[in-house]
Amino acid sequence: MSPSTPHRPPRPRPAREHPLVERVVAPRGGGGRRPPAIVLRDVSKTYGLGEIEVRALRDVTLRIASGDFVAIMGSSGSGKTTLMNILGCLDLPTSGRYLVDGIDIRDMDEDDLADLRNRKIGFVFQSFNLVARTSALANVELPLAYAGLSRHTRRARAQRALAAVGMAKRWHHQPSELSGGQQQRVAVARAVVTNPTMILADEPTGNLDSRSTEEVLRIFAGLNREGRTVVLITHEPDVAAQAKRVITLGDGRVLDDRRTAAVHDRPPAPRSQKSAHGALGEAHR
Ligand SMILES: Nc1ncnc2c1ncn2[C@@H]1O[C@H](COP(=O)(O)OP(=O)(O)OP(=O)(O)O)[C@@H](O)[C@H]1O
Ligand SMILES: [Mg+2]
Repeated sequence: MSPSTPHRPPRPRPAREHPLVERVVAPRGGGGRRPPAIVLRDVSKTYGLGEIEVRALRDVTLRIASGDFVAIMGSSGSGKTTLMNILGCLDLPTSGRYLVDGIDIRDMDEDDLADLRNRKIGFVFQSFNLVARTSALANVELPLAYAGLSRHTRRARAQRALAAVGMAKRWHHQPSELSGGQQQRVAVARAVVTNPTMILADEPTGNLDSRSTEEVLRIFAGLNREGRTVVLITHEPDVAAQAKRVITLGDGRVLDDRRTAAVHDRPPAPRSQKSAHGALGEAHR
């Protein structure tokens, strides 16, 4: 079971001139190693602090390097979505510490957290979560609402993001007029239009056929090659094989943690065992 994690359009509000997130992460005088993108220390999450408690995460300690590509696996109910909600600051741990790019989220106020979500993190969900009866372009523009950009600039950035996922020509289509794979590519464009450093994806290929799965995985691999940290939840071993590190959760704990490629290696190419057509053709048509 997954908790409801609706896509939350950012509150329209003026851009802060010097958000905490950028102040702290901005390189000081060059050099200097980047802090890990993610540090979790003894993070637990308990739902329903009434009579029936569910311990969805139990003392999870995890460090994810900037630029890594991590797959999170585990059976249904093992805590994957709970973990992603915490990583994306959509939810807070019940106990334990969480640092993003070296900043403890406990030191952030609501505006800092909103900045973090809006500027640094791109979300992709299994069910796409596009706004119905709204064009692909308008959907992709949505996360730019906060940034105080001109309409022209928003439009241009959304168009570029759609082009990057091979959807430039479909910009005027509404979600109901697109296939699942095309909707997910629009959702990926929406996730990256703000130029986030981290992409969090909860079973992004769960509703896709094998060909669309490959297309979406190729896009994720490209985002990772650009240096973005990718954390992807999946049930499918073929999808996890695309990552550089595979973490398996069980009953709210880390059961297994395997590195399959170095952080700064190119991500493994998606296996094209499923489709004879090749993925790129469609994606870039
Ligand atoms: N909002 C909530 N209130 C109460 N319990 C919850 C809530 N969200 C999740 N849980 C419980 O927490 C545990 C972990 O759920 P979670 O959604 O993180 O699992 P998951 O690994 O993502 O599963 P799936 O593969 O089915 O999506 C489950 O036992 C679930 O029932
Ligand atoms: Mg889930």
